Amino acid sequence: MSAIDEVKQKTDIASVVSQYVALKKAGRNLVGLCPFHGERNPSFFVYPEQQSWHCFGCNTGGDVFSFLMKKENLDFGEALRLLAQSAGVTLPSHPGRDEEKEEKERFFKINEAAAQYFQNLLLNSPGGTKARNYIQSRGFTEKTASEFQMGYSLNEWDDLKKHLQERGYTEDELVQVGLMVKSDNGRTYDRFRDKLMFPILDIKGHVIGFGARVLDDSLPKYMNSPQTPTFDKSHNLYGINLSAAAIRQQDTAVIVEGYVDVITAHQNGFNNVVASMGTAVTEAQVSSLKRLSRNLVLALDADAAGEEAMLRAVSYENILESEIRVAILPQGKDPDDVIKEDADNWKKLLSEATPIVDYTINMLTSKLDLDTARDKSLAVKELLPVIAEMKDKVRQAHYIQKLARLVNVEERTIEAELSRLKPSIDRKRKPIALSKQETYDYKSPLIRSSRLEEYCIALLLQHPELKEVNKYPTSEYITNSENREILLALQRFNDLSTLKENIDTAIHEHLDSLVKWELPPNNIEQKYDDCILRLEREFWKNMEKGKEEMLASEREEKGPGADLIKLEEEGIEPSLRMKETYIKKPRGG
Ligand code: UTP
Ligand code: MN
Repeated sequence: MSAIDEVKQKTDIASVVSQYVALKKAGRNLVGLCPFHGERNPSFFVYPEQQSWHCFGCNTGGDVFSFLMKKENLDFGEALRLLAQSAGVTLPSHPGRDEEKEEKERFFKINEAAAQYFQNLLLNSPGGTKARNYIQSRGFTEKTASEFQMGYSLNEWDDLKKHLQERGYTEDELVQVGLMVKSDNGRTYDRFRDKLMFPILDIKGHVIGFGARVLDDSLPKYMNSPQTPTFDKSHNLYGINLSAAAIRQQDTAVIVEGYVDVITAHQNGFNNVVASMGTAVTEAQVSSLKRLSRNLVLALDADAAGEEAMLRAVSYENILESEIRVAILPQGKDPDDVIKEDADNWKKLLSEATPIVDYTINMLTSKLDLDTARDKSLAVKELLPVIAEMKDKVRQAHYIQKLARLVNVEERTIEAELSRLKPSIDRKRKPIALSKQETYDYKSPLIRSSRLEEYCIALLLQHPELKEVNKYPTSEYITNSENREILLALQRFNDLSTLKENIDTAIHEHLDSLVKWELPPNNIEQKYDDCILRLEREFWKNMEKGKEEMLASEREEKGPGADLIKLEEEGIEPSLRMKETYIKKPRGG
């Protein structure tokens, strides 16, 4: 038995969940108020027999690992370690992984030491006067400067190098962590000189890198740490260490572009603001925020918003499983300017933020004359692919309706266009016929669903060409956290060894077994399609079952639509399929 299985066997999901949720019995299962969304009537279920959970309100679920990951903002490895500890299971150590971890820890320490050194120079060195004046001229208080651990780097070539070498760090390490640069002739020198330093911290408070600003008008204005084992600009958000609590509390995150924007926002009490550090928001950044809140507002200037909206909005919304809004900044101003001018105006901009899809539609149609046939068809051509990508069918229906009204044609016409578009979107999608004979045999229902998940992932692992279609089972269909981890990594990394490097070592054994799983030789694509379809069916079947139990456990006398109305009152849009299952339900359940 693998260590993970041992942890699972010795962990009782009900007792883990009970630490966060008051559960009461409902038949063989337990029910309570969902800890992930606000609700007055319980729709959060724990299934002790399957060792799984599901919320019918916000439509999330999984096993004990994913529960803890979500509740405590942990990654898989952290959740596993926590549960292993309380279950008294010793996890095998993996030398390679441990070395890597040690290296990271050491890099954090070096950065930490550098941040302290810069901070000290800002506060105490004669050279720091210039930087202190600059900070003042930007309107930052001393409290703010210390909260953000701002610092100053001297106008010298090797002052930091000397300082850190005295503390036992080698030149090599300093180059690797990005604090020093190695020139072609092999000489090394301090990367950051005569700059205002902004340490960049991760959500746990490790210093992972630096942003540095010139103190005058020279260019480039900013310099950042290069990509290192601890720092990847496109994966991190500046200010997340100081914003995470507020984001969770206010259940909204605001993304701005710049360091200074974040600092000014926080100084004015807007603590849920983080920065993408000048680049377009990435999938990795969105995914990392999802753990804190699903509500995302992008504060963008009109130009940036145009591109952002078109290109990535819907795929990010699919990740977040909610809608993204944009707050459009006045021409030529960034949040720093806006907030300093009038904090109330910033509040107003945020409260008026538009759903990004509506914004896209407005932007596009404002340039068209929708009374002409040509522009009508142009609008549909441009917008339909955006709408087609939506995973949430209720939202999709809403926008089909909106588009139909805009161009003043019947919804049916738009829907017909949409279905014509579909085949080209997921190119190879053919009608799926379920194959008659089973290629795998099952024991218990619990094993069965997880075998199916594994079969699907084994296919993907052994037949990378399947990834070309870019169709994967939705992560809700996958209950087992190890499988979920592998599936997510599969979508991000193309070769097996990189994939392996990017998942927790505890899952390696499981991964290896899937790689070696003996699969049938032919009709792979068909089998893969079948598999996804079966996962989907299984999921909805379980939903149906769970929903029955949920309704059975409800005391209040309500009509069949009452639960649906309840969900909508709570601001949750159940998917169309959910809606159907609610509506079909016979009275009196
Ligand atoms: P901006 O040019 O908008 O600067 O870049 P800013 O944040 O408003 O800074 P101030 O107010 O002029 O001091 C936005 C962000 O883009 C990244 C930085 O993260 C910056 O905060 N950037 C910008 C760079 O990384 N390098 C650059 O040369 C410029
Ligand atoms: Mn600015």
